[in-house]
Amino acid sequence: MNANSFVSIYDVSKEKIIELLESAKRFEENPNQDLLHGKIVATLFFEPSTRTRLSFETAVNRLGGRVIGFSDASTTSSSKGETLKDTITMVSGYADLIIMRHYLDGAARYASEISSIPIINAGDGSNQHPSQTMLDLYSIFKTQGTLENLNICMVGDLKYGRTVHSLLMALSKFNPTFRFVAPEELKMPLEYKIFCDNNNINYSEHTDLMEVIDEADILYMTRVQRERFIDLMEYEKVKNCYILKNKMLDHTKENLKVLHPLPRVNEIESDVDSNPKAYYFQQARNGVFARQAIICDVLGIK
Ligand code: CP
Repeated sequence: MNANSFVSIYDVSKEKIIELLESAKRFEENPNQDLLHGKIVATLFFEPSTRTRLSFETAVNRLGGRVIGFSDASTTSSSKGETLKDTITMVSGYADLIIMRHYLDGAARYASEISSIPIINAGDGSNQHPSQTMLDLYSIFKTQGTLENLNICMVGDLKYGRTVHSLLMALSKFNPTFRFVAPEELKMPLEYKIFCDNNNINYSEHTDLMEVIDEADILYMTRVQRERFIDLMEYEKVKNCYILKNKMLDHTKENLKVLHPLPRVNEIESDVDSNPKAYYFQQARNGVFARQAIICDVLGIK
C-alpha cells in the first residue's frame, strides 16, 4: 500500500487543499519545469475520457516526465480476464505513479491498497473525481477570490455525478450554502445530505432552477450520466431535465460563473459560451495546473 495516493477528497485537509491551490497557481505562472525528469507515469483509463487523461498527460509532459498507459481497456489483457489486482501489481513495477479511471466505485481505493506506488483517482464510477475537484476549486478561487461563504448551485445529475460528490465534500470545509437542483430521479444521494447535516452545511433541494439561480455565486451544471443507467428508458425521461439558456443568466449576480466538468451534451446551449459568465473552457484548462500540483505532491516533489 502507498500512503501518498490521492483517492478521495475526503482524505485531503483544508490546509492541503490550500497548499495545492497555491502550487497550481505557481504552475500556471510557470508550467514548463523539469521536475519529473526520469519519472514514468502510467495512465490506466478503463473508462472513456478526453479532459482528464489529456490534461494529466499534458501536466506530465510539461514537467519533463514520460507517460505509458492505455485509453481503451478493450486493447489490454483485462479483456482476457486479468484482474485489476494483477494489472496494478504489474504496472507498479513499471512506473513511478499510476493515474487510474475505473467504472467501479471504490476501484481507486482498492488499487491504492495493492499498489507500491501512488495512485491518483481519475474518477471511480459515480463515487469520486478528486482531481476534478481540485481544478474546480482552483477555478472557483480564481474567479471569486475566495472559497469561503459561497452560494453554490449544483444542477442536473446529482445522483450519479461523481464531480458534485467530490466538490460537495471539499467545499464543506469552506462554509458554503448549497442549492441542489435535480429531478426526483437524480437527487443528491442521502449519504451526502447526511454529510451536510453532520457538518452543519446549509443546503436546500429544488426542481426549478429559476427559483435559486439569481442568488448563486457558482452555477455548477452537470451532464445526465447516461452510462450509469441500467434502464435506458429512465435516462430518456430525464435526459433533457435542465438546459441552460443565455436569457436565464440575465438577472444573475455580477460575479456568477457557470462551471461544468464537461463533456456537455445539451445542458448548456452553445450561445452561453460567449457569455462572460461562462467559465467551463477556462475551467478545463485549469486542470493542467491543478494536476501538476497533485502529481508533484503525491511524488513528494517540492
Ligand atoms: N471532466 C471530465 O472528467 O472529463 P473527461 O471525462 O473528458 O475526462
